[in-house]
Amino acid sequence: DWIPVITVDGPTASGKGTLASALATRLGYQFLDSGSLYRITGLLALEQGTDLDDAHALEQLARQLGEGIALRFDRDHIWVDGRDVSEAVRREEIGQAASRLSAYPGVRQALLELQKAFRGLPGLVADGRDMGTVVFPDAALKVFLTASVAQRAERRHKQLISKGFSVTLDEICADLEARDLRDTSRAVAPLAPAADARKLDNSALSIDESVDAVLGWWVQGW
Ligand code: C5P
Repeated sequence: DWIPVITVDGPTASGKGTLASALATRLGYQFLDSGSLYRITGLLALEQGTDLDDAHALEQLARQLGEGIALRFDRDHIWVDGRDVSEAVRREEIGQAASRLSAYPGVRQALLELQKAFRGLPGLVADGRDMGTVVFPDAALKVFLTASVAQRAERRHKQLISKGFSVTLDEICADLEARDLRDTSRAVAPLAPAADARKLDNSALSIDESVDAVLGWWVQGW
């Protein structure tokens, strides 16, 4: 497939969503927030009372996304069967559910074609955990974003406090570490940089500086 893809992978709260979305805006590209598909599956599972240990039922549910269950996206919104779930999928319990169900190979397989279908003209920026390794192995530029746990926790803390949630930094650190462990240790598509990924540690970078660094690589490649 000759339509160019830039992948941005990295751990929870590394800022990959912000970076990827800014890149897509700057380049006028399509955008895929692959985590949202795992989150939508998690939201629907919790609403329907699906057991998070029931891999088969979760796979069946994931298969319906984009098929029996209509999805619509713009840069800031997600609609599921016409219902705006943009806020709902960001909830902490939904992130936890997504993290658990994303470990099932059948669920990942069920979401694979749906993710590939986001590839469209004039190009795509895709963010997640396995964009460069599994979903778009032929991506033109692969970025692996990292930041220290302390940095990531601080950013997440600010975000949550500004939304009126009351959480401590310690709780956030513990959650980040638990999620990192689950993402990096699962058998299928674990979080790891692709062999040909460019690594970017954004601990000390502003969003603009990170965007410029990646655009610099992008321009060099052409
Ligand atoms: O990136 P985000 O936090 O929205 O993703 C929610 C969860 O979905 C993550 O904790 C991760 O376990 C899972 N995920 C994944 N593969 C992706 C994107 C997200 O396993 N490509």
